[in-house]
Amino acid sequence: MLYIVVCAAGATRLVPSRFLPMATERGWDVHVLTTAQAIGTFPEVIEQIESVTGRPVRADFHTTVGYSLPDPDAVVVAPASYNTVTKLALGIADTYVLTRLTEQIGRGIPIVIGPYINEKFAKHPTYEPTLERLRSWGLKIVIGPDEPHQSGGGAAETFPWAELLDAIEPTAN
Ligand SMILES: Cc1cc2nc3c(=O)[nH]c(=O)nc-3n(C[C@H](O)[C@H](O)[C@H](O)COP(=O)(O)O)c2cc1C
Repeated sequence: MLYIVVCAAGATRLVPSRFLPMATERGWDVHVLTTAQAIGTFPEVIEQIESVTGRPVRADFHTTVGYSLPDPDAVVVAPASYNTVTKLALGIADTYVLTRLTEQIGRGIPIVIGPYINEKFAKHPTYEPTLERLRSWGLKIVIGPDEPHQSGGGAAETFPWAELLDAIEPTAN
């Protein structure tokens, strides 16, 4: 089982058409988790994801569909927002997604992160140390060819969906 965690970052728009078919093709049983911000920012995309997977997108522990999802074999956080990667590296667990990810780091579950972050966020002094910290904990970070990207550009087109899945391939079932 594979979790994909989506954030309120522009490349989330391409999850239904690019990432989900690719992950399914590679044999993954995919469950999608989302931040509350992503639901608020891209509600139509969350609906598309549910229609592609035939499953609810998870945004909280129990209330969505009445039972808790078991831990997966691996997790892809993509697109990962500046906000979510920064809080994860600080050990903050104040949302459903951050709570699951924080526990999964503690359990040693493989996690691959694909940031989709504009150059202004990336220039913040905390950004590079954040990535280094996550790498030092064993998380893999896959940076696309146009990352960090220019705001308003077409960087989502080159977002590294296949490379993110390659990074977890050894654990595919
Ligand atoms: C339309 C829109 C697009 C955004 N795109 C991005 C983005 O590509 N990357 C990013 O890091 N933040 C982006 N943001 C800002 C984040 O949504 C914001 O920091 C938010 O708090 C992230 O919440 P989350 O990490 O819980 O999803 C965007 C905001 C909006 C309104």
